[in-house]
Amino acid sequence: MSEALGDLSRVREVFDAETIARRVAELGEELSAHYPTGELLMLGALKGSFIFLADLVRHISRPLEVEFLVASSYGRSKTSSGQVRLHYDPATPLVGRHVVLVEDIIDSGRTLNSLVRLLETRDPASLEICALLRKRNAALTLEPRFVGFDAPDEFLVGYGLDYDQQYRHLGFVGSLIEDQ
Ligand code: IMP
Ligand code: MG
Repeated sequence: MSEALGDLSRVREVFDAETIARRVAELGEELSAHYPTGELLMLGALKGSFIFLADLVRHISRPLEVEFLVASSYGRSKTSSGQVRLHYDPATPLVGRHVVLVEDIIDSGRTLNSLVRLLETRDPASLEICALLRKRNAALTLEPRFVGFDAPDEFLVGYGLDYDQQYRHLGFVGSLIEDQ
């Protein structure tokens, strides 16, 4: 097997592009219905959520703002370090706004739990989580209200998700085949 960085032969498709597009459109409708009034802030956790968020907001039919934060917990490994570092903090105030934290995938929930703790100190009118994928390992302080798919307990890449910064550009979500 080739060891080349980002080798596509190492990826087995799990959720195809059409299935993802359908589900993202549904999530957009759910979000539109859930927030009939108030200011809505879609807060994407970079980098993993960039494609999901871009597709999602185009299916939300009410006014909203988009912001980002950058947190990281993985580095070059496939398991969470438990240490979340905030590299970029949203400049927009959260106070009085309905904030939806948009994540690519929830695994252990460590990243999310610490982000939720932090964001709650900023007095949003409400705080909900929207994740494209959710693995079943998570022990969460705040149950995500909007979830795209239950994910298998495999290492997934594509549609924003990376392994060592590779594979984010794939239009589908796939499982990374282990080195033989
Ligand atoms: P957690 O803290 O274990 O819940 O991990 C959450 C973060 O780790 C996500 O936002 C992703 O950036 C990354 N992550 C977790 N599982 C995967 C995966 O299967 N593929 C790619 N990134 C993942
Ligand atoms: Mg990542």
